[in-house]
Amino acid sequence: MPDLSVDFAGLKLKNPFVVASSELTNTLEKIKRAEKFGASAVSTKLCFLKVPFFAKPYHIVEKRAGFFSPSGDRLSVEDAQKLIDEAKRKTSLIIIANMMGPGGELNGWANLAKKLEDAGADMIEMNMSCPNIGLMAKQLGIHASPELGAALGQNPDLSREVTRAVARAVNIPVMAKMTPEANTPIVAQECSRGGAAAISAINCPQSLPGVDIYNEGRPIYPNAKNQSFAGLCGPWIRPLAYRHIAQIRMRLPDIPIAGGGGLTTWRHAVEMIMYGATVPTFCTLFYLKGFEVIPEIEKKLTRYMDEMGYLTLNDFRGIALRYIVSPEKVEYLNMIPEVNLEKCNGCGICTRIGHCLVINLVDGKAQVVREKECYGCGVCYWMCPRDAISMLNKETGEKVKLPGW
Ligand SMILES: Cc1cc2nc3c(=O)[nH]c(=O)nc-3n(C[C@H](O)[C@H](O)[C@H](O)COP(=O)(O)O)c2cc1C
Repeated sequence: MPDLSVDFAGLKLKNPFVVASSELTNTLEKIKRAEKFGASAVSTKLCFLKVPFFAKPYHIVEKRAGFFSPSGDRLSVEDAQKLIDEAKRKTSLIIIANMMGPGGELNGWANLAKKLEDAGADMIEMNMSCPNIGLMAKQLGIHASPELGAALGQNPDLSREVTRAVARAVNIPVMAKMTPEANTPIVAQECSRGGAAAISAINCPQSLPGVDIYNEGRPIYPNAKNQSFAGLCGPWIRPLAYRHIAQIRMRLPDIPIAGGGGLTTWRHAVEMIMYGATVPTFCTLFYLKGFEVIPEIEKKLTRYMDEMGYLTLNDFRGIALRYIVSPEKVEYLNMIPEVNLEKCNGCGICTRIGHCLVINLVDGKAQVVREKECYGCGVCYWMCPRDAISMLNKETGEKVKLPGW
């Protein structure tokens, strides 16, 4: 039976299912539910010394475009202390305290971290990544320090100094949470220099959803008349998250990384670990499907590890990184598409691919007619709705089935 436990910056996690900071973790009741369905750790909802402005959550679930969250409920120090204290006493979870100090004011960061440590937190997560505070202070002129959230996380030197202040103030490990709006490997490196024991990434990039085009461009939030810029999260940011995690891991080979952003299946968790994450983290998945999905993910992850002969997560951590090279070093295989005529129903989708005239319909079936022009990109394979196209290695004759989604 594979061992799913993880040592994360000295914290013993019984499995790699970490709930990312959000309204999923702002009450004891929800934290208990996370425990009930098998999570090992939660990062509590963002806490401030002084909450800078009122914010109530409002979301759009645009099924093909994303999950948009422009704002969220924040915890006061007292709320966070009470929550952490209760969660430590009433659950067996590892409790990570997500917090943001007052902009670049280092003492404020240190004081807040100390208070959360005293409340029982196992780890501090310095939020230098929220897209909805500091960046917006700059963009929309709200009354909040411009050095909050993602605006702080874009400044490697200040991030390092904030980390140093927090790491000196507490005896528990501190983790710095990165914004994808920054050069994350550099910011992570500076935070590590400042004493961060771990890095988490990524928080949401800033975004804007579509609008009601028949109603003067009004926003489509069900509970708001106007809108702010929104954090985009969920499956739509997963490749962006992989990129950041891989780049951070390539720069910092040893630092523990909590890697999240768009993970929704056991396979995504494996991919994230293969790109170098120490543990995967999940947020939007639980927003949309509940913590109930954890046991299924655990079962499938265990089955996969069994099949592959992996005994621990260490056995495959970071193994995908060796395939990342600079563009001029990419080695190409000599591939062409091969059509399975029994499966092909002549829909013609593969003949309409904009950049390619290689396939045409012949007698109502797809056929490779301009093989010399084919550079084996595989778009026809990905686009075929009937799985009728596979890729053939012209040198070895081997048929390579690209992995499906
Ligand atoms: C509604 C909402 C609230 C969030 N609140 C916080 C927060 O308080 N602190 C934080 O560091 N990240 C917060 N996040 C970001 C998530 O923790 C996570 O980093 C991000 O959503 C990407 O992961 P996902 O695609 O799995 O959701 C929030 C995300 C959402 C959707």
